[in-house]
Amino acid sequence: MCGIVGYIGHRQAAEVILHGLSQVEYRGYDSAGMAVSDGRGMRIIKDVGKLRDIHAKHNFLSLEGGIGLGHTRWSTHGPPCERNAHPHYDCSKKVAVVHNGIIENSRALKAELEKKGHKFTSDTDTEIVAHLIEEELKGKKSSSDSILSAVRSSISRLEGAYALGILVSGEPRLFLARRHAPLIIGKGKKEEMFFASDMAALLGYTRDFVLLNEGDLAALDAKGMQIWSADGSPAVRSPLHVDWTPQMAQKMGHDYFMLKEILEQPLTLAAAVSADVADGVKLLAGAKRPAVVACGTSYYAGLVLQYLLHRQKRTASAYLGSEYASWHTGAEDVVVAISQSGETADTLSAVRLAKKEGAKVLAITNVVGSTLSREADATLYISVGPEVGVVATKTFTGQLAVIYKLAYSLSSNKKGLEELAAMPSQVQQMLDEVHEPVHHLAKLMSKRKNFFFISRGIGWPCALEAALKLKEITYLHAEAYAAGELKHGPISMLEDKVPVIAIAPSGALAPKMESNMRECHARGASIIVLSDDKTILSEGEHSLAMPKVSEDFVPLFYILPLQLLAYYMTIELGRDPDQPRNLAKSVTVE
Ligand code: AGP
Repeated sequence: MCGIVGYIGHRQAAEVILHGLSQVEYRGYDSAGMAVSDGRGMRIIKDVGKLRDIHAKHNFLSLEGGIGLGHTRWSTHGPPCERNAHPHYDCSKKVAVVHNGIIENSRALKAELEKKGHKFTSDTDTEIVAHLIEEELKGKKSSSDSILSAVRSSISRLEGAYALGILVSGEPRLFLARRHAPLIIGKGKKEEMFFASDMAALLGYTRDFVLLNEGDLAALDAKGMQIWSADGSPAVRSPLHVDWTPQMAQKMGHDYFMLKEILEQPLTLAAAVSADVADGVKLLAGAKRPAVVACGTSYYAGLVLQYLLHRQKRTASAYLGSEYASWHTGAEDVVVAISQSGETADTLSAVRLAKKEGAKVLAITNVVGSTLSREADATLYISVGPEVGVVATKTFTGQLAVIYKLAYSLSSNKKGLEELAAMPSQVQQMLDEVHEPVHHLAKLMSKRKNFFFISRGIGWPCALEAALKLKEITYLHAEAYAAGELKHGPISMLEDKVPVIAIAPSGALAPKMESNMRECHARGASIIVLSDDKTILSEGEHSLAMPKVSEDFVPLFYILPLQLLAYYMTIELGRDPDQPRNLAKSVTVE
């Protein structure tokens, strides 16, 4: 969602912040800004639009000084416009604040501050933080101690979620605080410190991080940091070194990150299948009522886990993170939480509820040090490297790889584990074969407006994910159905030439799939079939021959050509697959 970057040290802060924010542009934003201090006074530039356009118009680098913070905003309170862009400041323009999250008691605080004469210039919840600090400092001699205590008592009044960066004019330190929103500190090599909402922002400068705990407040100067835990006591947080390199977040010659991330899946799968799942096996082996929670694409991966566990006669239910509170029974003893970012608010709130009721939490995520990994009892990393495209591609297949390994290790399914180990090279071969045919198909399909994706059994989550991919980046209407459900209603929407994309591998479910495809064909639909079986392929107006894989691996295999299809259709339509409108990479609000 929103991105935060802060810097204090010997470089020009504006340069570091601009670079850092450009590295997290993929998270999605509608406006941006930064505040820089030279130790005496502070200046702010902010506006609506993309970083490069704001820079071209206002020149961020004209902000001179070695202390600063910046922000890319994804609107929640008030429309995208200059006055709602961060940083926000107090009446005297001496306190600048950047913020991710939502302050839930902002209305009450605003009313209180307005009564005391504060004038607000934005519609945001963030602005109250700057005014609260200003109010706390009223009548006090400005000193490092008085500023720290004003920051501390202002933050103690906030309810909701926040990752905050605070810069006070004339103060040689930056303040930061986090609660239910990610914020990390980066340690520079010599006399410089960074902070950011996302490691990717800082990989060009450091790979040494310190992760703040829930409720922590920190002060940074060029030489180091001081951290206080939620109860105000001084705290030490352990350092973390990451292997991700800045190169991993480059396009490597591709036009878009999404294409790079689709095509590198043989490699990322190889990393994911070598995950150590021992901690997960330990937790699930003794579980009587396991549950799975996740959102969006990760939820579809969760449906595959539900399916595999059911096949082992383990009753597991998969819940959408946002729905868990309405459906949980309180009897779940192990909750598997799946999230590529590890920061999805809906998933985290499900996890917190489950933990409160005594469940153990097993996380499956890509991000070391993410909130989910830190709140879980054990974490399995998918290790696919940074995914910069907003929509999930390699993280989905990485999640599936870890899920297969977990399920097969749990049931000591040697054959399954062997097949899984061979997946990366099989996927490479398949990608080479389908790439051009899919590109061609995308040209034809980009002229259509409505799409149906159908499958059965374990193919159904794949149909759901394929439809989600298509709508996320093409903005075309797409729906996925378990094929048998069509006749219970949606079949009435089929008319001449509506594309029905059928994921139809050979096997026990194939005859019923064929009947469903014929039902659609009889209503004039245009069938696009993906299968490893010649007879089934012949049912389609268009067909894509797939290699034969065991039924379990259908979602992992069949999603790849469908990711490519969504990508190339988006290119045909002249849209940006990396940064689709209205979407953010990690959704940190409920
Ligand atoms: C994927 O393409 C989506 N943009 C979205 O559905 C995503 O999967 C969902 O928001 C969950 O994110 P997470 O995996 O980071 O928790």
